Amino acid sequence: MRRVMHDRFGGPEVLELREVDEPHAGAGEVRIRVEAAALNPVDWKIFGGGPAATTRGLEPPLGVGNDIAGTIDEVGDDVRGWAVGDRVFGSARTRALQDWTVVDPDAERLARIPDGLDAGVAASLVVAGRTAWDAVGRLVERQGDTLFVHGAAGGVGQLAVQLAERKGARVIGSASERNHDMLRRLGVEPVAYGEGLAERLLGMLPVDACFDCADGAGVAAGLEAGVPIERCIAIAVKGAHGAAGVATDLARTGALDELAALAAAGALLVPIEVRYPLERFRDAYRQLMEGHARGKLVLDLMR
Ligand SMILES: NC(=O)c1ccc[n+]([C@@H]2O[C@H](COP(=O)([O-])OP(=O)(O)OC[C@H]3O[C@@H](n4cnc5c(N)ncnc54)[C@H](OP(=O)(O)O)[C@@H]3O)[C@@H](O)[C@H]2O)c1
Repeated sequence: MRRVMHDRFGGPEVLELREVDEPHAGAGEVRIRVEAAALNPVDWKIFGGGPAATTRGLEPPLGVGNDIAGTIDEVGDDVRGWAVGDRVFGSARTRALQDWTVVDPDAERLARIPDGLDAGVAASLVVAGRTAWDAVGRLVERQGDTLFVHGAAGGVGQLAVQLAERKGARVIGSASERNHDMLRRLGVEPVAYGEGLAERLLGMLPVDACFDCADGAGVAAGLEAGVPIERCIAIAVKGAHGAAGVATDLARTGALDELAALAAAGALLVPIEVRYPLERFRDAYRQLMEGHARGKLVLDLMR
């Protein structure tokens, strides 16, 4: 089977597509025929060899990626609740960009893909969806709260603004000018980031909570606009200005099931900017690393 791998840490140039033996499900595991993998910045932070790799004890040789969707085609001994033919999505840390992957369905918290939901859409919900779900669940306390999402046009941001609106929040979102109309269509009041963000936010009061998906400047601006630090979460710059993060182990089956149900019902728009065939993994990561993806980048393995 095909597997994207790397023998040393580095940029996308260290990644290679190799032919390797197919894995098989051991006891307590299922094997999944991967149909789609969604990319996240944490993938390149791991293959780049920074703290995302070292704090998880990851050393090459390694595979790549995390978010997968596909169909179970082998079930190991002692597995309950899963069968060959089940369409599933979830996490396969460093084992996503490959034709087959093996996971422990309890440890990795697999969820079922609802009928009619596309595999690329389901995969896109794994890290970004759970992160947005956790942050919005903690930050929007009551209907009418105003949430400021810094980096609202990205994979996490676009899901967060929609989830906050579903909870009755007013949402302000920062993005570059080219994304302001897109944010307006999602019901968001757009604001430009960069120099003067705090002043612009002060002109849009009240602001009750802040979810910073970018460089930490969102938390700084939120604090100036009167948001208490207890109602700030930062995910790209951990601990920015004292803000909390989201749980790194976001294994919440409930969240994935609810997110997928919303997406299948058309109540949550899962923004996929580009779908590439697996062979274009380097182009996909180069685009992601530029930091201006408008939603998710997906690799289709069955194309
Ligand atoms: N568990 C965790 O802690 C956790 C979980 C998920 C993600 N994260 C981290 O959170 C960050 C966002 O993740 P993501 O998946 O949403 O990434 P992403 O999709 O790559 O985000 C891209 C977006 O960031 C926006 N952006 C770029 N520079 C910005 C700036 N200076 N200010 C405001 N927005 C800016 C871009 O908007 P424009 O094109 O309009 O500039 C673009 O829409 C990443 O660093 C990721 O590693 C952490």
